[in-house]
Amino acid sequence: MQVVRTPQEIRDLRINTFEGKSVGLVPTMGFLHEGHLSLVKNSREENDITVVSIFVNPIQFGPREDLADYPRDMDRDLLLLEQEGVDLVYAPQPGDMYEGNFSTFVEETSLSKGLCGASRPGHFRGVCTVVLKLFNIVAPDRAYFGLKDYQQYRVICRMARDLNVPVEIKGCPIVREPDGLALSSRNMYLSPRERESALLLSKSIVHARKMVRDGVRSCSQIRAKVLEILGSDPAVSVEYVSLKDACTLEDLQRLDSDGVLAIAARVGKARLIDNTLLEPGKE
Ligand code: PAJ
Repeated sequence: MQVVRTPQEIRDLRINTFEGKSVGLVPTMGFLHEGHLSLVKNSREENDITVVSIFVNPIQFGPREDLADYPRDMDRDLLLLEQEGVDLVYAPQPGDMYEGNFSTFVEETSLSKGLCGASRPGHFRGVCTVVLKLFNIVAPDRAYFGLKDYQQYRVICRMARDLNVPVEIKGCPIVREPDGLALSSRNMYLSPRERESALLLSKSIVHARKMVRDGVRSCSQIRAKVLEILGSDPAVSVEYVSLKDACTLEDLQRLDSDGVLAIAARVGKARLIDNTLLEPGKE
């Protein structure tokens, strides 16, 4: 496994070593867990070469967000990626990605406005900018994103389509702890008691899925139940509970087509998100 820091090193490898081979890219901010590694496994299955980027992207964090505290452990990350059989790790420094007079940004103007975009202005602009840069630097055939960040996945699909980026975007299922908690680098902020509270997110999702299986199609009814479950614990502070069309992310009144139930909540210092697809046709 090679570890490189500059775009030039990747370009050289693409020409000399990767020529004629399919390349899968897994963008990450490091502090890897099984969720990230599931994306790596998918890429390994579908491509000759797997590239993982590790970069805590400063421009996707708001001024009052956790950029300085964001967990990092490069040595452990490299060990895990080596064990997974990754070919190349791209780990630039902020100055390598954003030179002093950097002044060009990519903005998706529709899907990125609601949900997390509402409380994190500029977040998806930062995500789109860094992901397009990674696409340009690595030039992958396929790129792997977790459905854990469902809005991010949709925004990136739209950006790639709108800007004719020749990459296939793959969405991979949410990896959870055995008790249901969706894996996240930010779970390390949770105390044992807060972790118990955080479980309400996945529990409410399980309940919502059951309601759909039982024939409920009213989004307000499902939303009310989810809010009731989350509201049963004062340690959970809800930011949003939304039911959106799974493709357009527009508000949904009835589950006549596929929807996504998306939740954001604060538990202690951690801002957590979780979601599930609600597919009435499949239930
Ligand atoms: P990060 O939070 O490190 O996540 C990297 C990728 O792992 C994302 O595609 C995310 O959806 C996926 N992921 C995280 N937890 C997961 C889980 N429990 N199950 C499945 N996939 C999971 O998302 C980012 O980094 C950044 O915004 C990035 C795209 C790298 C741009 O900076």
